[in-house]
Amino acid sequence: MDNLVIRKYVNEDFNEVIKLLKKHFNISDNIKSIDDSLNSFGIVATTDKKIVGYLRIDKLYNPFKKCYYYFLSYVCVDSIYQNMSIGTKMLEFVFNYAKNDSISYIELTSRSSREAANHLYLKNGFVIRDTNVFRKDI
Ligand SMILES: CC(C)(COP(=O)(O)OP(=O)(O)OC[C@H]1O[C@@H](n2cnc3c(N)ncnc32)[C@H](O)[C@@H]1OP(=O)(O)O)[C@@H](O)C(=O)NCCC(=O)NCCS
Repeated sequence: MDNLVIRKYVNEDFNEVIKLLKKHFNISDNIKSIDDSLNSFGIVATTDKKIVGYLRIDKLYNPFKKCYYYFLSYVCVDSIYQNMSIGTKMLEFVFNYAKNDSISYIELTSRSSREAANHLYLKNGFVIRDTNVFRKDI
């Protein structure tokens, strides 16, 4: 893909990113901004300045392994631009970023019905861990 740029999210990306996220995930209607910090931030993929991909990184500390890791979420690519390796390029960007950020491992979750996503993660070196993901709403 020509003109593909992968970079960190900036506030000016907000409207386009929210539009993209709404197409793929169940997110709140009244988000006014995405709260980023030093350890939690977005990555966007753009082509000709149009945002075509997004993912979020949360850098977390595991005190028992004494190491930092990334948790990735909201990985998505605009449906018109899927299967053009943009997801792979965003992950490669994350891997390179992680190498310069003292990261020991990267985790994410994905429903088994998200077949393209599961293929993408396996293809890029993630392995499926034998664990269940639980959530309790409060
Ligand atoms: C998952 C997603 C981000 C991948 O982005 P992408 O830019 O298309 O990724 P890539 O082109 O780098 O790789 C996609 C791979 O999935 C494969 N694929 C596509 N549809 C597939 C399917 N139904 N079943 C299995 N593999 C599939 C492609 O062939 C490609 O693999 P290949 O390179 O070996 O041919 C994108 O499909 C997406 O946004 N999906 C909707 C949101 C989503 O499910 N996000 C994940 C949340 S965990």
